[in-house]
Amino acid sequence: MSTDVGAPIIDIEGLSLAYERDGRRNVILQELDLAIPRGQFLVIVGESGVGKSTLLRVLIDLATPSSGTVTLNTDPNNRTPMALVFQDARLLPWRRVLSNVAFGLERMGMAKSERCERAQAMLSLVGLGDLGQRWPHQLSGGQRQRVALARALAVEPEVLLMDEPFSALDSFTREGLQDEVQRIQQKTCKTVLFVTHDIDEAVYLADRVVVLAGSPGRIAADVSIDLARPRQRRDAALVEAARTLRAELSRRSADL
Ligand SMILES: Nc1ncnc2c1ncn2[C@@H]1O[C@H](COP(=O)(O)OP(=O)(O)O)[C@@H](O)[C@H]1O
Ligand SMILES: [Mg+2]
Repeated sequence: MSTDVGAPIIDIEGLSLAYERDGRRNVILQELDLAIPRGQFLVIVGESGVGKSTLLRVLIDLATPSSGTVTLNTDPNNRTPMALVFQDARLLPWRRVLSNVAFGLERMGMAKSERCERAQAMLSLVGLGDLGQRWPHQLSGGQRQRVALARALAVEPEVLLMDEPFSALDSFTREGLQDEVQRIQQKTCKTVLFVTHDIDEAVYLADRVVVLAGSPGRIAADVSIDLARPRQRRDAALVEAARTLRAELSRRSADL
C-alpha cells in the first residue's frame, strides 16, 4: 500500500466521544469534522476542559471515539507516524539528555551507534547539541522542552502533536521556543497539530486555527492565517487576526 500524498494526512469525520461515569454519559466531543492536509501547521485553541487533549488522545489511540472515524493517511511502514509533546517534558531523570532523546529509538530496536547519531542530530536541531551528556535536572525548563521536542522528532513521526507544550514556560522562553518550532516545521515540512489556549501563540504559529468551544466541544471556528513566514510578532495583520479570533471566540462562547 502506498500513501496518497494528495489526501489529508488526518481525516476526522463525525467524531464524537463520551465518557461513562457513575452510570452517566458525559459527552466531551460532538460531531467533529476535520481534514488536515499534509504539512499544515494546525493550531487548536479552546478553553480548559473543552476536549483538546482528548482529541489528541484519540489520534494516538489512547482514547476511543463513541462514533465517527479517524482516517490516517500515513506511511504504513512507519511504526511511529505520530509523536506527542506534553506541557511537561517527562524526561527520565536517571538517563542523560542524549539517552533520553534516543529512548524511542532504543524501543524500535535501532543499533546503538545509529541511535546516538540520530539523537545527537536531533539535539543539534533544537539548539542543544552540546548538552547531550547533562542530566535532565541540570537543564532549564525551556531546555527540557527542547529535549522533549528532540525526542519526539527522533522517531521521525509524520505528524507532531503538541499539547500546550510551552504553557508552563516564562514568556521570554516561550517566544524562543515558538520561533524554534516554527523554524523546525519549515525545515522538516512536518504536519503539526499544536494545542494551546493562548490566541497570540495560535495566530503567530498557525497556517490554520481551529477553535473548539462549548460543552460538548464542537468546532466553533476554522480560520486560515495566511501570512508569510518568518512572522513578526508586532505585525499589524497578525495583531488583527488575533483580535478577530478573540472577538469570534467570545461571541461563540456567548452563543454556546
Ligand atoms: N479518562 C477520562 N474519563 C472521564 N472524563 C475524562 C477523561 N479524560 C478527560 N475527561 C474529561 O473530558 C473533558 C475534556 O478534557 P480534556 O480533553 O483534558 O480538556 P482540555 O485539554 O481541553 O483542557 C474534561 O471535562 C475532563 O474532565
Ligand atoms: Mg488539555
